Amino acid sequence: MERTKQASVADRFIERWSPRSFDSKFEISDRKLKAIFEAARWTPSCFNIQPWRFIYTKSQDEENFEKFSNLLLPMNKVWAENASALGFIICRKVNDDGEKNFYSQFDTGAAWMSMTMQAREFNLYTHAMGGIKKDEVYDHFKIDQSEYTVICGFALGKRADKKELPEKLQKREEKNDRKELKDIMFENQFK
Ligand SMILES: Cc1cc2nc3c(=O)[nH]c(=O)nc-3n(C[C@H](O)[C@H](O)[C@H](O)COP(=O)(O)O)c2cc1C
Repeated sequence: MERTKQASVADRFIERWSPRSFDSKFEISDRKLKAIFEAARWTPSCFNIQPWRFIYTKSQDEENFEKFSNLLLPMNKVWAENASALGFIICRKVNDDGEKNFYSQFDTGAAWMSMTMQAREFNLYTHAMGGIKKDEVYDHFKIDQSEYTVICGFALGKRADKKELPEKLQKREEKNDRKELKDIMFENQFK
């Protein structure tokens, strides 16, 4: 579907979306990866705690790439294994004093959006995936659950024609819509 603006917003916000069809031949450079995580590094966070952490692997590293893709649920693995990088987004849920950081997931989500928008600067796309084998991710990377939360996985790469996808997914390979602006912005009162 064609996305239509309800206000004058920069095109980059409307044009970002989460494709499933990725070009398996495209190899991402370390320079681009660094820039993408550098964008995340400058995200604002409560008390500047910076709770976001990213684990990633590149498709060139076949052995690790296969390990990462095996940590995705099959519904995601089927398309995400054509991406150029796969990763997991983790947030540190406690502060140095051991207190829960209420804002950690909020801040980590903001960092994800910064990554995404920097990827777009390179004409690359990201796709977040809640559909991961969470318990296995904690085990595989030896992540301490009392300190960190695994939020989701992500795929990053160059878009390919939707014909590359299994037929069932081809039908879903298009931009979706949003709620009306009036349903999310409230002046002076809630609803
Ligand atoms: C935290 C999170 C988890 C998601 N999990 C999945 C997933 O497991 N599989 C999938 O295909 N898409 C997943 N998505 C993508 C969303 O479905 C997508 O962002 C949403 O439909 C809006 O579409 P757009 O990103 O194309 O604009 C996820 C997105 C987020 C932010």
